[in-house]
Amino acid sequence: MLVTKQPVLRRFWYAILPMQMLDDGPQPFTLLGEKIVLWKKADGSPAAVRDRCCHRTAMLSKGFVDGDHIVCGYHGWTYDCSGACVRIPQQAADAAIPPGAQVPAYHCVEKYGYAWVALEDPLRPIPDFPEETSGRHRRILQFYQRWGTSPVRMMENSFDNAHFSYVHKANFGLFDQPQPAGYRFEETDYGFEAETLVPIRNPPESHRITGTTEPVTHRHLVNRYYLPFGRRFGCHYPASGIDHVIYNCATPIDDGSMMLAQWLYRSDTEADCPTQALIDWDEAITKEDREILEATDPDACIDARRRVEVHMASDKPGLIIRRQLMALLEAHGEREVHG
Ligand code: FES
Ligand SMILES: [Fe+2]
Repeated sequence: MLVTKQPVLRRFWYAILPMQMLDDGPQPFTLLGEKIVLWKKADGSPAAVRDRCCHRTAMLSKGFVDGDHIVCGYHGWTYDCSGACVRIPQQAADAAIPPGAQVPAYHCVEKYGYAWVALEDPLRPIPDFPEETSGRHRRILQFYQRWGTSPVRMMENSFDNAHFSYVHKANFGLFDQPQPAGYRFEETDYGFEAETLVPIRNPPESHRITGTTEPVTHRHLVNRYYLPFGRRFGCHYPASGIDHVIYNCATPIDDGSMMLAQWLYRSDTEADCPTQALIDWDEAITKEDREILEATDPDACIDARRRVEVHMASDKPGLIIRRQLMALLEAHGEREVHG
Protein backbone atom coordinates (compact mmCIF):
# COMPACT_ATOMS: atom_id res chain seq x y z
CA MET A 1 0.00 0.00 0.00
CA LEU A 2 1.27 3.45 -0.91
CA VAL A 3 0.06 5.53 2.01
CA THR A 4 0.12 8.83 0.11
CA LYS A 5 -2.34 7.39 -2.44
CA GLN A 6 -5.03 6.40 0.10
CA PRO A 7 -7.05 9.54 0.92
CA VAL A 8 -8.87 7.97 3.87
CA LEU A 9 -5.59 7.94 5.81
CA ARG A 10 -5.78 11.75 5.87
CA ARG A 11 -8.76 11.39 8.19
CA PHE A 12 -6.86 10.09 11.23
CA TRP A 13 -4.85 11.75 13.97
CA TYR A 14 -1.08 11.23 13.97
CA ALA A 15 1.52 12.16 16.59
CA ILE A 16 3.74 14.62 14.71
CA LEU A 17 6.40 15.85 17.12
CA PRO A 18 7.10 16.31 20.84
CA MET A 19 5.66 19.63 22.05
CA GLN A 20 9.00 20.84 23.36
CA MET A 21 10.39 20.89 19.80
CA LEU A 22 8.06 23.85 19.17
CA ASP A 23 9.89 25.89 21.82
CA ASP A 24 12.55 26.47 19.16
CA GLY A 25 10.08 28.09 16.72
CA PRO A 26 8.07 26.75 13.78
CA GLN A 27 8.88 23.19 12.71
CA PRO A 28 8.33 21.55 9.30
CA PHE A 29 6.95 18.03 8.91
CA THR A 30 5.85 15.93 5.95
CA LEU A 31 2.66 13.99 6.70
CA LEU A 32 1.36 11.59 4.04
CA GLY A 33 3.46 13.47 1.50
CA GLU A 34 1.99 16.85 2.48
CA LYS A 35 4.39 19.51 3.74
CA ILE A 36 3.03 21.14 6.86
CA VAL A 37 4.37 23.55 9.50
CA LEU A 38 3.56 23.51 13.19
CA TRP A 39 4.01 26.24 15.76
CA LYS A 40 3.09 27.00 19.33
CA LYS A 41 0.53 29.74 20.01
CA ALA A 42 0.69 32.20 22.90
CA ASP A 43 -1.39 29.90 25.14
CA GLY A 44 1.01 27.01 24.47
CA SER A 45 -1.33 25.05 22.20
CA PRO A 46 -0.11 23.91 18.76
CA ALA A 47 -1.33 24.94 15.31
CA ALA A 48 -0.62 23.56 11.83
CA VAL A 49 -1.02 24.91 8.29
CA ARG A 50 0.49 24.08 4.90
CA ASP A 51 4.17 24.97 4.77
CA ARG A 52 3.89 27.26 1.75
CA CYS A 53 3.23 30.99 1.86
CA CYS A 54 0.49 32.06 -0.57
CA HIS A 55 2.49 35.16 -1.58
CA ARG A 56 5.61 33.85 -3.27
CA THR A 57 5.67 30.26 -1.97
CA ALA A 58 8.33 30.51 0.74
CA MET A 59 8.19 27.80 3.39
CA LEU A 60 6.52 29.24 6.45
CA SER A 61 8.69 27.01 8.61
CA LYS A 62 11.56 29.37 7.68
CA GLY A 63 9.66 32.20 9.37
CA PHE A 64 8.88 32.92 13.01
CA VAL A 65 6.09 33.05 15.56
CA ASP A 66 4.42 36.28 16.67
CA GLY A 67 1.89 35.67 19.45
CA ASP A 68 -0.71 33.31 18.02
CA HIS A 69 0.47 33.83 14.46
CA ILE A 70 3.14 32.57 12.10
CA VAL A 71 5.05 35.11 10.05
CA CYS A 72 6.62 34.36 6.68
CA GLY A 73 10.34 35.06 6.71
CA TYR A 74 10.34 36.43 3.14
CA HIS A 75 8.06 39.53 3.28
CA GLY A 76 6.31 39.12 6.60
CA TRP A 77 2.85 38.03 5.54
CA THR A 78 1.25 36.80 8.75
CA TYR A 79 -1.22 33.92 9.20
CA ASP A 80 -3.52 32.81 11.99
CA CYS A 81 -4.22 29.19 12.94
CA SER A 82 -7.13 28.99 10.47
CA GLY A 83 -4.63 29.72 7.67
CA ALA A 84 -6.05 33.21 7.00
CA CYS A 85 -3.56 35.94 6.18
CA VAL A 86 -4.18 38.65 8.80
CA ARG A 87 -1.37 41.09 7.97
CA ILE A 88 0.53 42.22 4.90
CA PRO A 89 3.20 44.64 6.17
CA GLN A 90 3.69 46.28 2.76
CA GLN A 91 0.05 47.49 2.74
CA ALA A 92 -1.37 50.45 4.62
CA ALA A 93 -2.70 49.31 7.99
CA ASP A 94 -6.33 50.01 6.98
CA ALA A 95 -6.10 48.29 3.56
CA ALA A 96 -8.15 45.13 3.09
CA ILE A 97 -6.41 41.77 2.91
CA PRO A 98 -7.01 40.41 -0.61
CA PRO A 99 -9.53 37.58 -0.85
CA GLY A 100 -7.75 34.28 -1.29
CA ALA A 101 -4.82 35.26 0.91
CA GLN A 102 -5.09 31.98 2.76
CA VAL A 103 -3.27 28.70 3.23
CA PRO A 104 -4.88 25.35 4.13
CA ALA A 105 -5.07 24.67 7.87
CA TYR A 106 -5.25 21.34 9.68
CA HIS A 107 -6.72 19.95 12.88
CA CYS A 108 -4.01 20.19 15.53
CA VAL A 109 -4.04 19.45 19.28
CA GLU A 110 -1.68 18.49 22.07
CA LYS A 111 -2.00 15.10 23.75
CA TYR A 112 0.41 12.82 25.62
CA GLY A 113 3.24 15.35 25.21
CA TYR A 114 2.92 15.39 21.41
CA ALA A 115 1.39 17.72 18.85
CA TRP A 116 -1.12 15.66 16.83
CA VAL A 117 -2.44 16.52 13.37
CA ALA A 118 -5.30 15.27 11.19
CA LEU A 119 -5.11 16.59 7.63
CA GLU A 120 -8.90 16.26 7.16
CA ASP A 121 -11.89 15.83 9.48
CA PRO A 122 -10.90 12.87 11.67
CA LEU A 123 -13.02 9.71 11.63
CA ARG A 124 -12.15 8.93 15.27
CA PRO A 125 -10.76 10.75 18.28
CA ILE A 126 -7.19 10.25 19.44
CA PRO A 127 -7.35 7.00 21.44
CA ASP A 128 -7.71 7.17 25.20
CA PHE A 129 -4.66 5.73 26.96
CA PRO A 130 -5.69 5.06 30.57
CA GLU A 131 -2.16 5.03 32.02
CA GLU A 132 -1.99 8.78 31.37
CA THR A 133 -4.48 9.47 34.16
CA SER A 134 -4.10 6.34 36.32
CA GLY A 135 -2.07 8.16 38.97
CA ARG A 136 0.18 5.07 39.10
CA HIS A 137 2.36 5.62 36.04
CA ARG A 138 5.06 8.07 34.99
CA ARG A 139 5.18 9.06 31.34
CA ILE A 140 8.56 9.02 29.57
CA LEU A 141 8.98 10.34 26.02
CA GLN A 142 11.39 7.70 24.84
CA PHE A 143 12.28 8.64 21.30
CA TYR A 144 11.29 10.09 18.02
CA GLN A 145 13.00 8.58 14.99
CA ARG A 146 12.60 8.61 11.24
CA TRP A 147 12.60 5.05 9.88
CA GLY A 148 12.97 3.99 6.25
CA THR A 149 10.02 1.63 6.29
CA SER A 150 6.23 1.82 6.16
CA PRO A 151 3.79 2.05 9.08
CA VAL A 152 2.13 -1.18 7.92
CA ARG A 153 5.44 -3.03 8.40
CA MET A 154 5.84 -1.42 11.81
CA MET A 155 2.34 -2.48 12.86
CA GLU A 156 2.63 -6.10 11.73
CA ASN A 157 6.04 -6.38 13.43
CA SER A 158 4.54 -5.03 16.66
CA PHE A 159 2.31 -8.11 17.02
CA ASP A 160 4.74 -10.67 15.62
CA ASN A 161 5.91 -13.00 18.40
CA ALA A 162 7.95 -15.06 15.93
CA HIS A 163 10.75 -12.52 15.45
CA PHE A 164 11.90 -12.37 19.09
CA SER A 165 14.16 -15.44 18.86
CA TYR A 166 15.94 -14.00 15.82
CA VAL A 167 15.84 -10.21 15.73
CA HIS A 168 16.20 -9.94 19.52
CA LYS A 169 18.38 -13.01 20.18
CA ALA A 170 21.17 -10.82 21.60
CA ASN A 171 18.70 -9.20 23.94
CA PHE A 172 15.57 -10.79 25.42
CA GLY A 173 14.82 -13.38 22.70
CA LEU A 174 15.21 -17.10 23.43
CA PHE A 175 17.08 -18.38 20.38
CA ASP A 176 16.57 -22.03 21.30
CA GLN A 177 12.80 -21.54 21.73
CA PRO A 178 11.65 -20.27 18.32
CA GLN A 179 8.08 -21.51 18.65
CA PRO A 180 6.14 -18.36 19.53
CA ALA A 181 3.57 -18.02 22.27
CA GLY A 182 -0.03 -17.88 21.05
CA TYR A 183 -2.36 -14.90 21.36
CA ARG A 184 -5.90 -14.43 22.61
CA PHE A 185 -7.61 -11.99 20.24
CA GLU A 186 -10.53 -9.69 20.60
CA GLU A 187 -11.51 -7.41 17.75
CA THR A 188 -12.71 -3.99 18.91
CA ASP A 189 -14.13 -0.82 17.39
CA TYR A 190 -10.61 0.71 17.28
CA GLY A 191 -8.79 -2.41 15.97
CA PHE A 192 -8.00 -5.35 18.25
CA GLU A 193 -6.59 -6.44 21.58
CA ALA A 194 -4.14 -9.35 21.70
CA GLU A 195 -3.06 -10.98 24.95
CA THR A 196 -0.18 -13.40 25.43
CA LEU A 197 2.41 -14.63 27.93
CA VAL A 198 5.94 -14.57 26.51
CA PRO A 199 9.02 -16.13 28.15
CA ILE A 200 12.13 -13.93 27.83
CA ARG A 201 15.82 -14.06 28.66
CA ASN A 202 16.60 -12.01 31.74
CA PRO A 203 20.38 -11.44 31.94
CA PRO A 204 21.76 -9.24 34.78
CA GLU A 205 21.65 -6.07 32.64
CA SER A 206 17.86 -6.56 32.37
CA HIS A 207 17.16 -6.88 36.07
CA ARG A 208 16.36 -3.20 36.69
CA ILE A 209 13.93 -3.26 33.77
CA THR A 210 12.13 -6.48 34.65
CA GLY A 211 12.41 -5.98 38.41
CA THR A 212 13.40 -9.63 38.91
CA THR A 213 16.58 -11.75 38.84
CA GLU A 214 15.13 -14.97 37.38
CA PRO A 215 17.30 -16.08 34.41
CA VAL A 216 14.12 -16.62 32.37
CA THR A 217 11.07 -14.58 33.24
CA HIS A 218 7.77 -13.67 31.57
CA ARG A 219 6.05 -10.73 29.99
CA HIS A 220 2.30 -10.68 30.25
CA LEU A 221 1.33 -8.66 27.17
CA VAL A 222 -2.01 -6.98 26.57
CA ASN A 223 -1.26 -5.35 23.23
CA ARG A 224 -3.63 -3.23 21.18
CA TYR A 225 -3.82 -2.20 17.57
CA TYR A 226 -5.40 1.17 16.81
CA LEU A 227 -6.35 1.73 13.18
CA PRO A 228 -4.49 2.70 11.14
CA PHE A 229 -0.99 3.04 12.64
CA GLY A 230 -1.11 3.10 16.42
CA ARG A 231 -0.25 0.41 18.92
CA ARG A 232 0.03 -0.38 22.60
CA PHE A 233 2.70 -2.72 23.91
CA GLY A 234 1.06 -3.46 27.24
CA CYS A 235 3.76 -5.28 29.16
CA HIS A 236 3.40 -6.38 32.77
CA TYR A 237 6.18 -8.32 34.51
CA PRO A 238 4.32 -10.77 36.77
CA ALA A 239 7.43 -11.61 38.81
CA SER A 240 7.89 -7.99 39.96
CA GLY A 241 4.46 -6.46 39.35
CA ILE A 242 5.96 -3.67 37.20
CA ASP A 243 4.00 -2.24 34.24
CA HIS A 244 6.05 -1.29 31.19
CA VAL A 245 3.49 0.02 28.72
CA ILE A 246 4.66 1.52 25.43
CA TYR A 247 2.56 3.47 22.96
CA ASN A 248 3.67 4.10 19.39
CA CYS A 249 2.38 6.14 16.56
CA ALA A 250 3.97 5.11 13.25
CA THR A 251 3.32 8.44 11.59
CA PRO A 252 3.38 8.15 7.78
CA ILE A 253 5.81 10.63 6.20
CA ASP A 254 5.73 9.38 2.61
CA ASP A 255 5.65 6.06 0.77
CA GLY A 256 9.06 4.95 2.04
CA SER A 257 9.38 6.40 5.51
CA MET A 258 7.64 6.97 8.81
CA MET A 259 8.32 8.73 12.09
CA LEU A 260 8.32 6.51 15.13
CA ALA A 261 6.87 8.36 18.11
CA GLN A 262 7.32 6.24 21.23
CA TRP A 263 6.49 6.92 24.84
CA LEU A 264 6.43 4.71 27.89
CA TYR A 265 4.41 4.42 31.10
CA ARG A 266 6.18 2.77 34.04
CA SER A 267 4.57 1.91 37.35
CA ASP A 268 7.84 2.11 39.33
CA THR A 269 9.81 5.19 40.39
CA GLU A 270 12.87 7.03 39.15
CA ALA A 271 14.77 5.54 42.10
CA ASP A 272 13.77 2.02 41.03
CA CYS A 273 14.82 2.52 37.41
CA PRO A 274 16.13 5.84 36.04
CA THR A 275 14.49 7.41 32.99
CA GLN A 276 17.68 7.29 30.92
CA ALA A 277 18.12 3.56 31.60
CA LEU A 278 14.58 2.95 30.34
CA ILE A 279 15.19 5.01 27.21
CA ASP A 280 18.49 3.26 26.49
CA TRP A 281 16.95 -0.16 27.07
CA ASP A 282 14.05 0.25 24.66
CA GLU A 283 16.16 2.12 22.13
CA ALA A 284 18.55 -0.83 21.88
CA ILE A 285 15.64 -3.23 21.28
CA THR A 286 13.95 -0.91 18.82
CA LYS A 287 17.21 -0.49 16.90
CA GLU A 288 17.09 -4.21 16.17
CA ASP A 289 13.52 -3.88 14.86
CA ARG A 290 14.48 -0.86 12.79
CA GLU A 291 17.38 -2.62 11.10
CA ILE A 292 15.25 -5.54 9.94
CA LEU A 293 12.25 -3.42 8.98
CA GLU A 294 14.40 -1.11 6.88
CA ALA A 295 15.48 -4.28 5.03
CA THR A 296 11.86 -5.05 4.00
CA ASP A 297 9.82 -3.68 1.09
CA PRO A 298 7.96 -0.62 2.40
CA ASP A 299 5.20 -1.08 -0.19
CA ALA A 300 3.51 -3.54 2.18
CA CYS A 301 0.65 -5.42 0.55
CA ILE A 302 -2.43 -5.35 2.75
CA ASP A 303 -4.55 -7.51 0.45
CA ALA A 304 -3.60 -11.05 1.52
CA ARG A 305 -5.48 -12.45 -1.49
CA ARG A 306 -2.90 -10.96 -3.84
CA ARG A 307 0.34 -11.77 -2.10
CA VAL A 308 0.67 -14.41 0.58
CA GLU A 309 3.10 -13.56 3.33
CA VAL A 310 0.90 -15.30 5.86
CA HIS A 311 1.51 -18.96 6.49
CA MET A 312 2.11 -19.35 10.23
CA ALA A 313 -0.24 -19.00 13.17
CA SER A 314 2.03 -16.23 14.44
CA ASP A 315 1.26 -14.21 11.29
CA LYS A 316 -2.40 -14.00 12.34
CA PRO A 317 -2.14 -10.49 13.86
CA GLY A 318 -0.64 -9.17 10.64
CA LEU A 319 -3.49 -10.79 8.74
CA ILE A 320 -6.07 -9.08 10.96
CA ILE A 321 -4.30 -5.73 10.50
CA ARG A 322 -4.42 -6.20 6.73
CA ARG A 323 -8.08 -7.22 6.78
CA GLN A 324 -9.04 -4.23 8.91
CA LEU A 325 -7.08 -1.83 6.71
CA MET A 326 -8.71 -3.35 3.59
CA ALA A 327 -12.15 -2.92 5.18
CA LEU A 328 -11.31 0.71 5.98
CA LEU A 329 -10.33 1.41 2.35
CA GLU A 330 -13.35 -0.37 0.94
CA ALA A 331 -15.75 1.45 3.30
CA HIS A 332 -14.48 4.70 1.77
CA GLY A 333 -14.61 3.53 -1.83
CA GLU A 334 -10.85 3.10 -2.19
CA ARG A 335 -8.72 0.35 -3.67
CA GLU A 336 -5.27 -0.46 -2.44
CA VAL A 337 -2.63 1.34 -4.50
CA HIS A 338 0.86 -0.12 -5.11
CA GLY A 339 4.02 1.27 -6.63
S1 FES B 1 6.69 34.69 0.13
FE1 FES B 1 5.81 34.84 2.08
S2 FES B 1 5.55 36.92 2.42
FE2 FES B 1 6.37 36.81 0.43
FE1 LIG C 1 10.81 -6.47 17.93
